Amino acid sequence: MSNPPTLSLAPHILEVEGESAFTYLARAKELERQGMSIVSFGIGQPDFDTPAHIKEAAAKALEEGFTGYTPTAGIAEAREAVADYLNQRYGASVSPDEVLIAPGAKGAIFTGMLAFLRPGDEVIVLEPSYPAYAQIAKALHARPVYVPIEWHGPSEGFKINLGWVEEALTERTRMIVLNNPQNPTGALFSPKQVMELLDLARERGLILLADEIYDNFVYDAEFRSVLQDPAWRDTVVYINGLSKTFAMTGWRLGYLVARREIMGKMAELAVNIYSCATSFAQKAIVAAYKGPWEPVREMVEIFKRRRDMLHDRLSRIPGFEVWKPLGAFYMFPRVKKLLDEAGMTSKDLATKLLEEYGVVVLPGTAFPDKAGEGFLRFSYASSFEDIEEGTRRIARAVEDILSSAKK
Ligand SMILES: Cc1ncc(COP(=O)(O)O)c(C=O)c1O
Repeated sequence: MSNPPTLSLAPHILEVEGESAFTYLARAKELERQGMSIVSFGIGQPDFDTPAHIKEAAAKALEEGFTGYTPTAGIAEAREAVADYLNQRYGASVSPDEVLIAPGAKGAIFTGMLAFLRPGDEVIVLEPSYPAYAQIAKALHARPVYVPIEWHGPSEGFKINLGWVEEALTERTRMIVLNNPQNPTGALFSPKQVMELLDLARERGLILLADEIYDNFVYDAEFRSVLQDPAWRDTVVYINGLSKTFAMTGWRLGYLVARREIMGKMAELAVNIYSCATSFAQKAIVAAYKGPWEPVREMVEIFKRRRDMLHDRLSRIPGFEVWKPLGAFYMFPRVKKLLDEAGMTSKDLATKLLEEYGVVVLPGTAFPDKAGEGFLRFSYASSFEDIEEGTRRIARAVEDILSSAKK
């Protein structure tokens, strides 16, 4: 039955798409309920518990009755803890009043985009991309303009092609989104590339929305934060959060950092959306950044070993071209040769792997717009046993696909 006209959704909202990771996961759960054994490389969240000292800080706050509203921008000590972290790590000179605590990095991205985008503005989205940037832009009457990042093969991986970004700029361009380290490719853009993009944004008077939520997941490589640029305040709206670094996805804690002069209005905007982030959870921010950092270091070390193992196993599968990523916890192998031979799309392959072999991977096209066609995304937030079993199943699936393609 269709909705009565009164309930017809706004046309620009009809263009907003959900997040495939959640859809595939729901289907996997359904198959599991039906008795199928499932191995998941689907979801982008650490399979670790939040470190004990962080949970204790929140429990203590609850115990002490810290359960009311807080200032919208966050409690002072949490804003201070974030500023201290960024300053110690990046020499950024962030002051606590330049920090807005939000319900998740996604809440921070939404608030940041809402504050700056005007109807019809264009937002440059480097694709394949974390889906929310483009969907939020659409929800705000703005327009995502997709610019592919360039695949340089299994030994070099993914790089920003600055010429392609420049070509996509128009007089309507308002913002460029940079996610580094990157979801879904695991790319870590070089210090030079980061500085070039900052310079371009500055020259053209554009906002650089920089999402560095994976800044603690960097393997054998140099990471340059946009906050290391002494003039970051001219052009950067910075996003980070606790979800990934401290295995806190369900806590919903993220933050936005921008120049002091706009933060008052930013808080006035935020108060109308979410009032404040959860009070007792904010107390945990202080504990998280204060440390001990040992649990984070141990987790990242395990991720690195999983990356090496997954890279090794996938590289042995015919038709898989696999670059060993330098950041985040994703791998984005190119499977175009296999797909061409089998007459399949990335989505066909992901569906087949789930429905027939019980392996959750996401098609590259789940990360809009089209540049992900020919790729699959693996999250290696899975145990060593699951990596072994999952890649064994994929190898068997590929064998089956290739032998039926030859018939
Ligand atoms: C690049 C990127 N930014 C933001 C988020 C969302 O983080 P949060 O759970 O803190 O909202 C994710 C989660 O997958 C992500 O991959």
